[in-house]
Formats: sequence, C-alpha cells, structure tokens
Amino acid sequence: MKKLAIFASGAGSNAQKIIDRFKNHPIINVSLVVCNRPDAGVVNIAQREGVPVLMIERDRFSKGDAYTSVLEQAGIDVIILAGFLWKIPARLVETFHGRILNIHPALLPAHGGKGMYGRHVHEAVIAAGDCKSGITIHQVDEFYDHGAHVFQTEIPVMPGETPDTLAARIHELEHRYFPAVIEKFVLGADSPIDLSTIESLPS
Ligand code: GRF
Repeated sequence: MKKLAIFASGAGSNAQKIIDRFKNHPIINVSLVVCNRPDAGVVNIAQREGVPVLMIERDRFSKGDAYTSVLEQAGIDVIILAGFLWKIPARLVETFHGRILNIHPALLPAHGGKGMYGRHVHEAVIAAGDCKSGITIHQVDEFYDHGAHVFQTEIPVMPGETPDTLAARIHELEHRYFPAVIEKFVLGADSPIDLSTIESLPS
C-alpha cells in the first residue's frame, strides 16, 4: 500500500476529490490530513471521511523538525500539498525527496513564489494581460513553486474575466486533473493510466 498525507490549510475541495478517488483503491490510501488551521474546512472533510488529522504548529514545523519523524512513523510514502501555505522546511524536503507534489493555480514559472497564492495569483494573471492561465503540478524543493513540473494544462483567459471567474474555472481544472495525476505519479511510469483519458472522467 502507498500511503498519502495531504497537507492543506483551507477549504479542502481538492483534498475531498483526492480522498474520493482513492477510496477503496487497491494500492493508494489517503492515510493522513496535515493542517495548520483548526478552523479550516479540510478538517471537517477529513473527520467526515474518517481520515486522521495531524494539527501542526508553526515553529515546530518550520524551525524544529518535529513532524518529519511523525510522518515517517506513520509510514507516509508521498506528501500532497493541496492548498498548503507554509514553506516546506529543508529537512522534510530532504527526507521526502522526489515524493512531495504541489498544485499551483497558474502556469509556472509565471506567477509563482512567496505570496503568490489564491486570489493573488489570478489578479496577477489578469493584471499582466495574459491570454492563458492553467494549473501546474510539480515536485517540491526548498524554494516556493520551484521543483520539477509533473503536469501542466491551460485554459484561455476570457474577455471580461475577473479573479473570481478565473479562480472558479481553475478550481474545476484542479479537481479534474489533480487526483489522476497523483495516481499516475504514485504508481510510476509503468502505470497503465493514460493522462489523455482524464478529459473523459467525471469532474
Ligand atoms: C487551490 O486553488 C490550489 O491551487 C491552491 O490552493 C487552493 C486550494 O483550494 N494552492 P481548496 O482548499 O482545495 O479548495
């Protein structure tokens, strides 16, 4: 069994889609949700779905190394960042080298880096006059939004687009692709999943 830990700070709509995809999966299991905000929507989702929640505290996460061993002891194989806003500390990146994925709601390397999350990203895309945006799923290294790209897909920025309309369309894209890309990533290159078939999956 391959065990996933989902790190999330917010509403958790991506976490929900990931949990849904791997319910009763023969190889992949969502074993843990890691969260830094007790009032985050993702906590309710995890509780409802029966996934254990690890609440983390900033100094122990960023300065100490308290949680790496917790994740190792829980047998976590892959970490999925699904709307997690804190930078991943070096020790955790080292320990899970090549086994941490993040989703970013734009076409990196454009519109990434510190402070570029949520609405800020979509405002920047529109302010730049970009004709397209999209999602980037990438491996995580010690820099914000910097690791190797695993998957990108794009949509046009429409005339009259606002940060809210763009955010909603990007969210749909995330829900449609992220769980399937995780599955392919975790199962490895020999997996029979063809990403071109994702279009036909229910979103
Ligand atoms: C997503 O847009 C993701 O790209 C960003 O944070 C958002 C999380 O949304 N990093 P949700 O909590 O999964 O609804």
